Amino acid sequence: MSEQDVVSYRVENRIAWVSFNRPEKRNCMSPTLNRRMMEVLDALEYSDDVGVLVLTGEGSAWSAGMDLKEYFRETEAKGLGAVRQSQREAYGWWRRLRWYQKPTIAMVNGWCFGGGYGPLFACDLAIAADEAEFGLSEINWGILPGGGATKVVVDLLSMRDAMYHALTGERIDGKTAAAWKLVNESVPRARLEERVTELANVLLGKNPVAIKAAKDAVRRVKEMTYDNAEDYLVRAQEAANFHDKTDGRKEGIRQFIDEKSYKPGLASYDLSRAASAPGHD
Ligand code: ACO
Repeated sequence: MSEQDVVSYRVENRIAWVSFNRPEKRNCMSPTLNRRMMEVLDALEYSDDVGVLVLTGEGSAWSAGMDLKEYFRETEAKGLGAVRQSQREAYGWWRRLRWYQKPTIAMVNGWCFGGGYGPLFACDLAIAADEAEFGLSEINWGILPGGGATKVVVDLLSMRDAMYHALTGERIDGKTAAAWKLVNESVPRARLEERVTELANVLLGKNPVAIKAAKDAVRRVKEMTYDNAEDYLVRAQEAANFHDKTDGRKEGIRQFIDEKSYKPGLASYDLSRAASAPGHD
């Protein structure tokens, strides 16, 4: 397998399906994989063909976390500079994904351990197979859940569940992960792609400028006071108005109030009929 192949992707109907592709190593993240993933994210981020990115895994794993051999042992043998570089490369693509231009969905098909919680959290939405298994296995091999994993569970789970998860190293299945809100929902493995496609299509039907503004706002306001959030949201919407060359906001009002062709409480306006939408004459 060439270095390029550790991440695979295809674009179909405006959905980019990006896969961790080291199934024989349960898709654990090596420095090579981390570098390649950043290149793939770069290539897809502003592509007009892509409206939603789905991150999944080939084979039985989503990702078995960091590669204990290549990311830890071999890198540590090269010294502190190499360790810091590997951390930058891993954290770098997770950060890139947290603030990605397009909405993102983690499609968790199987094993998800430790370092895997970084990209899991980075995706805006997460749908798991009921059969998937999640664990902060760090404690099982003698370390704390680092690389953001502790932060992820504290942000997403109750303190009791986060503590239990971090201290016991016990696995939970997709259904429990959904009950704990580590993912949005879980569905039988056989329905996973279908459900993710359905969700991706919902996102594709929304104004993309509004989607980017909304996803960033959800992450940003969490750490703001109410007053700061109020101010940020006013300014973020005004910036979105500037970036939205389709003037979608006015079109959304027009189709409801003047045309009466849809109701915003029940559905989205028709993007294709905005004045400067692609294909509009
Ligand atoms: N790092 C390095 N190699 C790994 C990793 C990993 N995280 N996970 C799997 N592999 C390798 C195995 O060493 C094995 O290699 P080999 O074929 O050369 O012997 C190969 O992948 C297949 O793994 P198996 O253990 O044989 O697969 P199995 O399906 O039986 O078990 C499981 C899957 C449960 C995921 C198991 O591989 C495992 O426990 N992996 C480690 C999970 C983990 O704790 N990850 C680290 C989290 S902490 C962190 O990320 C900071």
